[in-house]
Amino acid sequence: MPVGIFDSGLGGLTVYDRLSQRLPNISFCYLGDNLHAPYGVRSQDEIFELTCNGVEKLWSYGCDLVILACNTASAAALKRIQEEWLPTDKRVLGVFVPLIEVLTERRWADNSPPRPVKAERIALFATPATVASRAFQRELAYRAIGVDVESQPCAGLVDAIEDRDLILANAIARSHAEALLRRMPQPQAAVLGCTHYPFVKGVFQQALGEVPIYDQPNVVAESLADYLSRRPEWAGTQLNGKFLTTGEPASIATKATQFLGRRLIFEPCSL
Ligand code: DGL
Repeated sequence: MPVGIFDSGLGGLTVYDRLSQRLPNISFCYLGDNLHAPYGVRSQDEIFELTCNGVEKLWSYGCDLVILACNTASAAALKRIQEEWLPTDKRVLGVFVPLIEVLTERRWADNSPPRPVKAERIALFATPATVASRAFQRELAYRAIGVDVESQPCAGLVDAIEDRDLILANAIARSHAEALLRRMPQPQAAVLGCTHYPFVKGVFQQALGEVPIYDQPNVVAESLADYLSRRPEWAGTQLNGKFLTTGEPASIATKATQFLGRRLIFEPCSL
């Protein structure tokens, strides 16, 4: 029983990479829905349906615990999945809340009333669907007061990363960062609210200067390690990891290997 990791495509590999380093004794089964990427330009209903299909597929591989390593799926579908759809013997966790807990200086399960926090001006870079969902602001408002969030829907960036066109991806990332800085010249924190964006984090950092950037790989790895220490029954059993894609396995494997710098083999699957 491995732990499942789901993303619309290659972005969740940034989370997988850190998870596999942080939790070397856990087996992971990764599913990238490359055929339907990007999710960030789809409607909330479409994202919900695709995400449920992906999660069900991972269940069929024995992954009773699935991490949605995708902000777009977490923002558009996770609440509905947990409220309407999830059987009691399965768990689905997102990547959104752990990051917001770090930003708002909270520990897990700290349900105390919202309070002022250090970062009062936050720049959010995310997919159009994540920005439109306003899930980031909603989750933030449960925990913090007095925070101004300026969001930049980064159209085109996931496509360029999925195509591994890094020249284009770098140019798009830079122009989105500059566009946001024109509206919020001095953010105190920047959030890469899409798991694809850590692949171009250097460009965001260059454009944003000294602004601290928060992204999910480390945060999610720490949060899962903490979760599994409290709930070891979800840690699964040790098996060889597996990588699945709804896209063309050989070309996805080549791109994934280039991104992570180690050889990954993908198997085909359909949703
Ligand atoms: N990695 C996904 C995320 O974190 C990308 C979404 C997309 O496919 O547009 O949002």
